[in-house]
Amino acid sequence: MSEKLVILGAQWGDEGKGKIVDLLSERFDVSVRYQGGSNAGHTVVINGVKYIMHLLPTGILHPHNTGVIAQGMVVDLKALEEEIADIEAKGNPIFDRLLISDRAHVVMPYHKLLDKLLERKNGVGTTLRGIGPAYMFKFMRKGIRVVDLFDQRVFERRLEENVEFVKSVVEKVFGERFEIDLRYIEEEVLRPFERLKSRVADTAKFLRENTKSVIFEGAQGTLLDVDMGTYPFVTSSNSSALGLAHGTGLSPKYFKDAKIYGVAKAYLTRVGGGPFPTELKGEEAERLRQKGGEYGATTGRPRRVGWLDLVALKHAVDVNALDGLILTKLDVLDGYPEIKVCVAYEYRGKIYEEFPSSLEVLENCKPVYETLPGWSGSTKGITDPEQLPANARRYLEFIENFVGVPIVMLSTGPQRHEYLFLKEVF
Ligand code: IMP
Repeated sequence: MSEKLVILGAQWGDEGKGKIVDLLSERFDVSVRYQGGSNAGHTVVINGVKYIMHLLPTGILHPHNTGVIAQGMVVDLKALEEEIADIEAKGNPIFDRLLISDRAHVVMPYHKLLDKLLERKNGVGTTLRGIGPAYMFKFMRKGIRVVDLFDQRVFERRLEENVEFVKSVVEKVFGERFEIDLRYIEEEVLRPFERLKSRVADTAKFLRENTKSVIFEGAQGTLLDVDMGTYPFVTSSNSSALGLAHGTGLSPKYFKDAKIYGVAKAYLTRVGGGPFPTELKGEEAERLRQKGGEYGATTGRPRRVGWLDLVALKHAVDVNALDGLILTKLDVLDGYPEIKVCVAYEYRGKIYEEFPSSLEVLENCKPVYETLPGWSGSTKGITDPEQLPANARRYLEFIENFVGVPIVMLSTGPQRHEYLFLKEVF
């Protein structure tokens, strides 16, 4: 068994990583989130009980697992405290199995305010969880890290600098008044920190010295990666495998034997703005959205939906050097007489077979489709590859041949037992 496993999104997030990680993490001792924050929403259903993981790694739901919030994350301490309380109220004690990096940055209430104000201008369709501004402060070298909360003088000095900066931006750029309400800081940051501080550690050192098996859980997806995604319609972290080293504080050498799998839906969705060449509109879109239950886990927003884009998927395979794909929601395509897949883009008479970095091309290209026959049988809940209808199998083979890596596993429904392996994963 591989001692290090990475599971990440191969599309625009919402691929169903939560359930996959829940299943695969059972055999790992440690699980790690290394980028993003409470913008994520990984849904897991265990014995009929639904958990939505925002900041915590999904693996922590297993009673033997230590969960790590690594340094590349931006942490909303109040949201974290509430998430822990919610899981514990469902009968799963996790507090003592959690480690929070002392180097992780803290999402402050004014980051959420700035997210809202910036969103009015940019239209990225962010989750409004303050993620972009928290990373902005980090790279501007004005951020407040978890470690800073241990020293009141350091914290107060940083806070004062922050408030001065935010006040000038809010008032001069956005023309709104800004007064800091210290009760809010107390409520959202300091009190939750008091309750969580015993779990703060140097998590990079913990991972370096930990000889056990570790699963790394990416949030969002490769197409939302700040460098490799559809910039500027992306999240503010490296949500592809590129984020592993700096997000955990581990050398790239540490990951040399890791297996990396990308989770992808059998079709495609996206929330928020930005290019989506295979997007469907009108009735066709509504049918797919309803069938797939495509509403956001974090914000409840209806997701944009479309056909599978193999050019984009191949990009994710290449960027992450994926060992294989894990395909989810194939059953949503059950009953479609024909299924389209995008195999190239056409822009101003030119054919693009590779995912372009230009937003102009992505926004204005036309997808070139290949049409494959659908299947009449049901794939819902199947657990045996023999039960796959012949045309469903052909669909999978088409994807594999195009992207050049195998589909190792299928998820066939939301419940924990609804999956099947097609190849060896570990
Ligand atoms: P932010 O991460 O809140 O700054 O949002 C930036 C973009 O990433 C927006 O288009 C969001 O809809 C998208 N996004 C962020 N987190 C997720 C996620 O977990 N799933 C899907 N999309 C996400």
